[in-house]
Amino acid sequence: MPRITLTDLAKRKTEGRKITMLTAYDFPFAALVDQAEIDMILVGDSLGVVVQGKENTLPVTMDEMIYHTEMVTRATSHCLVVGDMPFLSYQVSREEAVFHAGRFLKEAGAQAVKLEGGAAVKKTIESIAAADIPVMAHIGLTPQSVHKMGGFKVQKEMDRLVKDAKTVEEAGAFSVVLECVPGEIAKRITDEISIPTIGIGAGVHCDGQVLVLHDLLGLFDRFVPKFIKRYANLGEDALRALRQYKEEVEGGTFPGEEHTFK
Ligand code: KIV
Repeated sequence: MPRITLTDLAKRKTEGRKITMLTAYDFPFAALVDQAEIDMILVGDSLGVVVQGKENTLPVTMDEMIYHTEMVTRATSHCLVVGDMPFLSYQVSREEAVFHAGRFLKEAGAQAVKLEGGAAVKKTIESIAAADIPVMAHIGLTPQSVHKMGGFKVQKEMDRLVKDAKTVEEAGAFSVVLECVPGEIAKRITDEISIPTIGIGAGVHCDGQVLVLHDLLGLFDRFVPKFIKRYANLGEDALRALRQYKEEVEGGTFPGEEHTFK
């Protein structure tokens, strides 16, 4: 299957066919997501929390994002790979934003980048898009603004959200993530803009859905928001396997004859 393109995604919206997206952060999981023919992989800065074990996404660096994105792109031939711009990689100046966005394509082989914010990042999106770097926007709950928002909260200001969505579309974003937005607001935005909306905690009316892979597979349980559906319990399976290994080594039943060279 050829790699998904921006044209494919735009066509999905006009045809009313849903778009699938998941995060991935390394080669083995990205290979599985690619094999499952998910449309897009987001190498999210959520890796700061689910891979690095940090409190939030703020400490994640550009070099860490490039390191993970490069592993992901090497594993994929079908998914469109989106590199997530970490905190302070696009807020300082437009020049820096274009340079850092370009690194995702040039050094890590991604096809697009994502950044957080609505009307406030209009000029930044314009500058990156003007360099022919496809940009996905992200509005609603934007985790890099956790301190300004006073926590991870559902965003309910309809007028601001609609304005943000229209502004990022005008600025040249090819798609927009809606995070933790009431279903009715997400529906209105989806109806009123022509680029695909990708929801996480934004209900069923978005043009597509994204989830953090570790949440979906049951590999992260420090907190489990309402919008997450667990499709597997890999954490429990892994723990069972590790305990059995310990038991067998301690009990002298591993390695067996079949694992031993003659
Ligand atoms: O970093 C991330 O994984 C994200 C998704 C939650 C959309 O931004």
